[in-house]
Amino acid sequence: MHGGEVLVENSSSAVLISLYRKRAKRYDRSTLLLYMAGFHHWAYRERAVESLALCQGDSVVDLGCGTGLNFSLLQERVGPSGKIIGVDLTDAMLDQAAERVAAANWSNVELVKSNATNYDFPSGLNGILSTFALTLVPEFDEVIRNGASVLALGKRFVVLDFKRPSGWLMNKAAPLLAKLLTGPFGGTLEMASRKPWLSLKTYMALVQFTSLYMGGAYIATGEKAGLSAASGGTDES
Ligand SMILES: C[S@@+](CC[C@H](N)C(=O)[O-])C[C@H]1O[C@@H](n2cnc3c(N)ncnc32)[C@H](O)[C@@H]1O
Repeated sequence: MHGGEVLVENSSSAVLISLYRKRAKRYDRSTLLLYMAGFHHWAYRERAVESLALCQGDSVVDLGCGTGLNFSLLQERVGPSGKIIGVDLTDAMLDQAAERVAAANWSNVELVKSNATNYDFPSGLNGILSTFALTLVPEFDEVIRNGASVLALGKRFVVLDFKRPSGWLMNKAAPLLAKLLTGPFGGTLEMASRKPWLSLKTYMALVQFTSLYMGGAYIATGEKAGLSAASGGTDES
């Protein structure tokens, strides 16, 4: 089931692996806590998957797929003739994903244990999705550059994640929100200050940037474009 083994992990990855091993079994239930804070992650996932603009038969990578919460949404888009590749650092999260795949009897899902930074993206992909994972990866720029390089023209890389809000009020509330919302998932305010959408803008055309949750989260969509295409559509440049 798992390929792309990473023999030695750096210390920040080792900390995340240890945290997610402890959380894997109750991860899906713990996301319900987000609703109590008004964070409608399921609706955000639907919008992110829609933004991939996938077709039946397409192949898509879910980077940092965790327990595979996005898989049913991706299945609706690619259908049984398509393919979903779930990539994650943590074995225990992939074990939960494997249970989900078996329970749904999906035969078109491949699970790969790999650090996103070292992941060798297959060529011919029709889309790459990462939800609530890329901000945890210090080398997110390298990951986006690698992913963008294998996508064909017109194909998309969509990131849904937390970010540090810019408004005065939310900025004041940011330390508390980071602790409550992202802390249990290994996120910090420093991580939320990362700006993966700028990497999408560097290596692709940023065709959409949607601010969510009063600026505390976002969906960013990069589209592989020809050399002359200009980026646009963001208020977070
Ligand atoms: C908050 S969970 C998100 C899981 C899933 N994408 C979702 O939306 O529910 C973060 C996931 O990212 C994974 N992760 C963290 N750092 C990673 C890395 N460098 N490479 C691959 N996966 C990573 C963790 O193991 C964990 O499963």
